[in-house]
Amino acid sequence: MYRQETAIQHTADTRTWWARPGLDIREGRLHVAGRDAESLAREYGTPLYAYDLRRIEEQARALQGAMAGAGLRHLVRLALKAQREPEVLRFVRALGSPGTPGSVGMDVCSPGEVLHASAHGWGPGEISYTGTNVSDRDLDVLLAHPIHINVDLITQIERVGRRDPGRRLGLRLNPRAGAGWGGIGETFYSGAEKPTKFGIFQEDLRRAVEAAREHGLTIDVAHFHVGDGYLMDGLSAFEVAVERATVMVRRLMDLGCPIEEVNTGGGLGVPQVPGDQPLNLDAWAAVLARHLGPLDVLVATEPGDFLVKESGVLLAEVVTVEERAGRMFVGLDAGFNVAPEHFIYDAPFEIVVCRSADGPRTQTVTVSGNINEGNDLFAEDYPMPEVREGDIVAMPGVGSYGQVLAMTHCLRPIPEAVFFEDRE
Ligand SMILES: Cc1ncc(COP(=O)(O)O)c(C=O)c1O
Repeated sequence: MYRQETAIQHTADTRTWWARPGLDIREGRLHVAGRDAESLAREYGTPLYAYDLRRIEEQARALQGAMAGAGLRHLVRLALKAQREPEVLRFVRALGSPGTPGSVGMDVCSPGEVLHASAHGWGPGEISYTGTNVSDRDLDVLLAHPIHINVDLITQIERVGRRDPGRRLGLRLNPRAGAGWGGIGETFYSGAEKPTKFGIFQEDLRRAVEAAREHGLTIDVAHFHVGDGYLMDGLSAFEVAVERATVMVRRLMDLGCPIEEVNTGGGLGVPQVPGDQPLNLDAWAAVLARHLGPLDVLVATEPGDFLVKESGVLLAEVVTVEERAGRMFVGLDAGFNVAPEHFIYDAPFEIVVCRSADGPRTQTVTVSGNINEGNDLFAEDYPMPEVREGDIVAMPGVGSYGQVLAMTHCLRPIPEAVFFEDRE
């Protein structure tokens, strides 16, 4: 899905493109939430996830501010599948009491996530479920909680209707357009040519509404998730998708559905390589306002990546520095099992030597992990400062789809994590 990067290139200007408050360089050394990253690694051991929770607050407030600034009645939810650590959830919960403008709701996609969100303080009215291939066993749990449910296929409308006629329901729409990282105009979620597994197509809307009516279901939410890490260069593709989705929402309204909320999904990206232009949230919110504003509905967004990706850093120790057949290999005490997202999507890793965070990248290396698989390579042809056994390196951007996906392949344990609410 992501654009495959063979190697990240750096110039003197771009070597610290990732730096920001909460992930900064002091006298050449990397700091996470104001703490010396190498010292954290020595204190807690490696591999280690280190979280700067303030980053989540900054991202949430930026989204809320942009949507408010565009004049939208709005709601921000966190996609729980991206990050579910109790310490993170406690922090997110504290961003605002239920129903207040600062609060962040929950987007969930499985029965387990409904229970998890409930157990961590979210009430049913704050939980929005958008899942796929929902079984009767799933419905046993979902229907026991008065949460809002969005479904994505006509047969799923019928399944819910058979079990719980008369309820309110949302429809996930597929506008056959989307926006991915690198300006790509389609995604796994809403492809143009080949049908994806998600969402009702335009030509099936009437059938969907009829299926709902047969069971007395009221369609009050329209949902579309059309993004995958899109940034500024994907904004025009996003607008095409929103425009098409808006036509579909109007059609639902014309068919008599009292749509109260349009849920615009997630997919907003954060920069991943030097040169990536961050999403201008005012421009993003203006797109939503242009198309959805006239509908006078609540406009929701439910990002995972945008809210939490930048909050997490993976720290690892260099255990090998060895030249092999003319190539320098840098081996870590961490493998793909602790940061699977990058391996699933071929997203590039930035790797920072903590004691020399802004050091000149004078050599080209292969960075490998400690899992016994040949593809356990964090980076190839990668420019890096001089590095020694025992050094600590940091990989930013593992706050989403990192710890949640971590696995114990080769019986390598899931790493410890430290969470910082304040910045020193
Ligand atoms: C329905 C829905 N909402 C939200 C998200 C969160 O996406 P992201 O982390 O890209 O913002 C996803 C991810 O697949 C999704 O399917």
